[in-house]
Amino acid sequence: MRAHPAGPRHGQIPADHSSILPVDLNDLDPAVWPRGADRSAGVLTLAGNDVRDLAAEYGTPLFAMDEQDFRSRCQDFADAFGSAADVHYAAKAFLSSHIVKWLAQEGLSLDVCSGGELGLALRAGFPAERIGFHGSNKSQAELEAAVDAGIGAIIVDSFDEIERLVEIAGTGSIGAGRPGGARSGTAIRVMIRVTVGVEAHTHEFIATAHEDQKFGFSLAGGDAMEGIRRVVAGPGLELVGLHSHIGSQIFDPSGFEVSAHRLVRLLEQAIVEYPELADTVTTLDLGGGLGIAYTSTDTPPSVDAMAKSLTEIVERECQASGLVVPRIAVEPGRAIVGPGTVTVYRVGTIKDVHLDGGVVRRYVSVDGGMSDNIRTALYDADYTVVLASRSSAAPAARCRVVGKHCESGDIVVRDCYLPADLAIGDLLAVAATGAYCYAMSSNYNRLPRPPLIAVADGTSRQLLRRETDDDLMHLETW
Ligand code: LLP
Repeated sequence: MRAHPAGPRHGQIPADHSSILPVDLNDLDPAVWPRGADRSAGVLTLAGNDVRDLAAEYGTPLFAMDEQDFRSRCQDFADAFGSAADVHYAAKAFLSSHIVKWLAQEGLSLDVCSGGELGLALRAGFPAERIGFHGSNKSQAELEAAVDAGIGAIIVDSFDEIERLVEIAGTGSIGAGRPGGARSGTAIRVMIRVTVGVEAHTHEFIATAHEDQKFGFSLAGGDAMEGIRRVVAGPGLELVGLHSHIGSQIFDPSGFEVSAHRLVRLLEQAIVEYPELADTVTTLDLGGGLGIAYTSTDTPPSVDAMAKSLTEIVERECQASGLVVPRIAVEPGRAIVGPGTVTVYRVGTIKDVHLDGGVVRRYVSVDGGMSDNIRTALYDADYTVVLASRSSAAPAARCRVVGKHCESGDIVVRDCYLPADLAIGDLLAVAATGAYCYAMSSNYNRLPRPPLIAVADGTSRQLLRRETDDDLMHLETW
């Protein structure tokens, strides 16, 4: 039973809790926690930083990101996919100027989906030619900014966008004279976003998914081929790749197999009509969506295994069609930034609620909530939470971690077990909050956004400071 179709499952008591009841409540499953997470004398440490010290210095709630975890996952992707592929980090999962610099240092490429993300990336010095620009409704101004900067590729999403780009290519002002600018004599490089009719989520995928959605050019309806024709016909545009994105939190590569198969068939068809495309369409972009472990029951494949599958799939499909194997591009967001960040909260209120059947659910209220993590309310997302400021040998109590917002759907961790001696003032840590938590945060109820700090080698520094009362008031016109 749900109070709201998009809301969390209120009042539902899972029949079997064994899957979320750890053997030892103090355990930190390495599949779920940052690579630099540990316990020292019972206290959670992050890259050698005592979580109590972090809370004292920066306050709570607090996002703490393990810098080495982030960097090492960038390296994992670069190593696994090798030199024949491009790994684009999906900025939408989380972006800050420091992240942009780390990505540049690690040699990754970057995907943006708005002028805001593009602007930050460029201002932080990211090489424009390694940026791809997505989005289903890019404005004229956003497209001009991207063309002006000379970004690597614009992933076009509609016939309207193709028209806008043709117009931009035809005007002389944008980027004129700027070396590398797409108006300085070079064509605007575009990919076609293809809606391949595959929808993937964790273990399941549907090969005949509805194309009834806002993104891309429908393959089945023939729009994708028509998009290719218009790009080819569009003066000043160059088709450099085909793109698809089939979903998120994917554990099973089979969905990519179907999507790669369909993209390759489309490429084959396009080359029959326009043989010159064999030379220019050099990239097959399979999008993002590689899953991570939010709880110990999640078992995503390793990056190596996923890379091997995707590479083999594309090679096989191209060989079957007699095509030269193009470069593969992938766009992981969550899999790079998700696992290395934890949110640290302080417990403020504890309330036992007696449910039917003699079941007691302990509501543990923390000092943040749906403004710093909307994913539980929005997607029924599961998270792992531990008592962080000390260890405990107390028995497990059935708990629900909730926030401080004026909304009953304000749930951070719906079903969990915490030590029965949990007390006001204790610190809780929620794992794997690096992706789409800060990025989707809000000021609901006028709460300031938490700071986001980086931890490395026993030190910490702020990447983003906590919002202040002044920040919250600065849009007021009084
Ligand atoms: N590429 C494209 C074209 C995308 O649309 C996305 C995500 C990605 C890459 C990155 O996907 P990832 O590897 O991070 O799963 N707010 C939701 C996720 C929305 C994803 C939208 N597109 C969440 O919190 O789960």
